[in-house]
Amino acid sequence: MCNKKLIVFNVFIIYNFAVFTTVRGKPKLPSFIKVCRRSDPHLSDCIKNSVENLRPLLARGIPEFDIPSCEPLCIPEVVIDQGSGAVAVRSTYRDIKVYGPSKFVLKYVKIDMERDRIRIKLWLPRLELTSRYAMEGRILMMPISGTGTSRGNYSNIDATVIMQGQRVHKDNETYFNIKDFYVDFNIGHATIQLDDLFNGDKELGEAMNLFLNDNWKNVANEIKPVLEDTIASIFKKFSNKIYHKYPLNLLLPK
Ligand SMILES: *[C@@H]1O[C@H](CO)[C@@H](O)[C@H](O)[C@H]1NC(C)=O
Ligand SMILES: *[C@@H]1O[C@H](CO)[C@@H](O)[C@H](O)[C@H]1NC(C)=O
Repeated sequence: MCNKKLIVFNVFIIYNFAVFTTVRGKPKLPSFIKVCRRSDPHLSDCIKNSVENLRPLLARGIPEFDIPSCEPLCIPEVVIDQGSGAVAVRSTYRDIKVYGPSKFVLKYVKIDMERDRIRIKLWLPRLELTSRYAMEGRILMMPISGTGTSRGNYSNIDATVIMQGQRVHKDNETYFNIKDFYVDFNIGHATIQLDDLFNGDKELGEAMNLFLNDNWKNVANEIKPVLEDTIASIFKKFSNKIYHKYPLNLLLPK
């Protein structure tokens, strides 16, 4: 089941959302949350453990908190519009379903309260994606066009996320605002399948899919910056929805 209204990508956002959702203005912490204090000398480890504890809940969703399941994770739309370079395509992906995100392994979490910076490294063994796609342009000099279903398997993914925040004062409260959201990822291996390329021309479509899979690394490297920016901007927007709603003292008590 996919809830299209909520785009919940980020385990930390989900974590914050679950911890700090208020009931009639009065903060109430659910029992499954392990709260971390800012003064904790092992704050980063504390948050890492809290997130690990949440994993099974993230996978099936937390209806009480309006948190949808992240197995699969649903993304309504991603547009990649790249005008020049080796991959010059305009492509739109809709109804994206991502299977596997709850299998994340947190490798490193660092919260720097002095510089208002959060740094996360995680590893994903495997993601399986399905979506509807529409595409037009050129990939490594080859013209490509099509509309249909796309599928992809991505494995051995390393990701680094850096959130640079700032503190904002409003109504005598201090809030956290994410100023910059930076995502970097590396995919170990990928296989992709685009159905109905070239108006359903079987031969051309098969040839193109072979070509794309043979060259997946080049293609991925070309669209990586766009994809990273796209993911980062969605994450940033969503994080700030939460951060702007709850004062910092609630999110991370002293
Ligand atoms: C902010 O704090 C000041 C001084 O304590 C108080 O007079 C004012 O009413 C407060 N404003 C809000 C919006 O709570
Ligand atoms: C992805 O993996 C599944 C099985 O794990 C397989 O059935 C499917 O064909 C694969 N898809 C692609 C595009 O490689």
